[in-house]
Amino acid sequence: MIPESVNKVRIGVLASGSGSNFGVIAQQAQAPNYPGEIVVLVCNQAQAQARERARHWGIPEHLIANRDYAHREDHDRAVVAALQQQRVELVVMAGWMRVATPVLLAAYPERILNIHPSLLPSFRGMHAVQQALNYGVKISGCTVHIVRLEVDSGPILAQAAIPVYPADTVTSLQQRIQIEEHRIYPEAIAQYIQDGYRVESVGSPTNGAIPATLDQQ
Ligand code: GRF
Repeated sequence: MIPESVNKVRIGVLASGSGSNFGVIAQQAQAPNYPGEIVVLVCNQAQAQARERARHWGIPEHLIANRDYAHREDHDRAVVAALQQQRVELVVMAGWMRVATPVLLAAYPERILNIHPSLLPSFRGMHAVQQALNYGVKISGCTVHIVRLEVDSGPILAQAAIPVYPADTVTSLQQRIQIEEHRIYPEAIAQYIQDGYRVESVGSPTNGAIPATLDQQ
């Protein structure tokens, strides 16, 4: 009898912190009918709680501290080596506090997913929740997207929206966004695999990429 994992897509997760998204994906990937299995966690922070979660789920983990590398590309080369060693096919960023270099993107073109705590294309980059509060938006949420070179700019796979309340703080809004993250990220990963890693429509004539002229404004 062929083991069920033979047909599962091999997922590598990149995380820098708490790893709560990693945890829920690891849990859901235990289901026999989930189309992917997490075969490695790569972490760049020694103290990250994500590492404990990897031990809990019996997932091999690699600590690759970015401070050991002078250049971002060299760090990404080490990350790619760890992923390739485990024959990773799909990379899932889950609170990975590093900007992907062309080294990582070339190794896994259109095969890297990320979750961002805003309704992209609003509030890209760091401190997205604070930015949303500062702007006074009444609705916020989270976005799962494919990673491209421009930060938080790739084709969108899934989004969830939540109301922003007048009394919200960064902490309270972040907590409610994370509830939605935990719901949509495992689903979006599964859907991406089941769709054959294809995006049907990205709603943009540039196929999701930001034209250089716009990006520089
Ligand atoms: C999430 O809020 C995600 O949107 C952002 O980083 C956070 C990671 O949280 N990219 P966790 O480590 O999964 O708990």
